[in-house]
Amino acid sequence: MTNETIALQLAHRTIRAYKDQPLTEAEVATLMDVARHTATSSYLQSCTILHITDPQVREAIGAASGQPYVGGTKGDLFIFLVDLYRNSRIRAEQGISSEALSSMNLFLTGAEDALLAAQNVVVAAESMGLGTVYLGSILADPRSVVQALKLPELTFPIVGLLMGHPDQEPGQKPRLPLSVMTATNTYPHVESYTEALADYDREVSEYYDLRSGSRLESFTHLVGTSIGVGGAHVSPIAQVLHEQGLCLR
Ligand SMILES: Cc1cc2nc3c(=O)[nH]c(=O)nc-3n(C[C@H](O)[C@H](O)[C@H](O)COP(=O)(O)O)c2cc1C
Repeated sequence: MTNETIALQLAHRTIRAYKDQPLTEAEVATLMDVARHTATSSYLQSCTILHITDPQVREAIGAASGQPYVGGTKGDLFIFLVDLYRNSRIRAEQGISSEALSSMNLFLTGAEDALLAAQNVVVAAESMGLGTVYLGSILADPRSVVQALKLPELTFPIVGLLMGHPDQEPGQKPRLPLSVMTATNTYPHVESYTEALADYDREVSEYYDLRSGSRLESFTHLVGTSIGVGGAHVSPIAQVLHEQGLCLR
């Protein structure tokens, strides 16, 4: 079965090149309203979204990410924050301690809120004909992002999102077969991923990646070679979380 929403979701592609045409105020307001209406863990609304319009702040975030399209003027940049600070202030105004907000548990609820809000925004933006790219790369240098955004304690920039009018038409990137990615009741049994993913590997190798300007390596090769190699896979994320007073217990 299909409908307009499902067709849109099945047509998802990340866009990394944008025209020099910013979002209108009305578009930004609508997208932020969509974010605001996203489901939220325990109704705590532990998320804040920053629209980055200051070129210097944007350059600092671009430098932290190491990705050329994050800086500059194309597309509108948003940073989704896990925000436990606001609720700590609300508690402080009632004379209540906020020790509980420093737990891994509460950080996870904030991360859930922020990432779900971001995905709701992505779907809404795509429905408006806009392109989007998530930016996990801002965590290649999380401390610089915290400094550039002057973030208070108990906040953390969990993901960036660049949105704008697409200036490229990438092909759709193939995904893992449903048989390895979904199952009923218990974890899916796979005897050999090399065999189960052979067709998928071939499909991925035929995908032409506009980002690298070349064909992609196979998925299993990517998994074998790219994990834990540089950027946000190795940056001091745990340390910066602790400096922000998060995930202390
Ligand atoms: C949490 C998250 C972080 C991401 N970070 C980046 C990033 O820093 N830079 C980038 O170019 N793409 C980033 N992406 C986009 C992925 O590379 C992209 O979704 C993936 O290659 C699949 O391609 P598709 O979205 O076109 O289907 C990110 C995606 C997610 C979900």
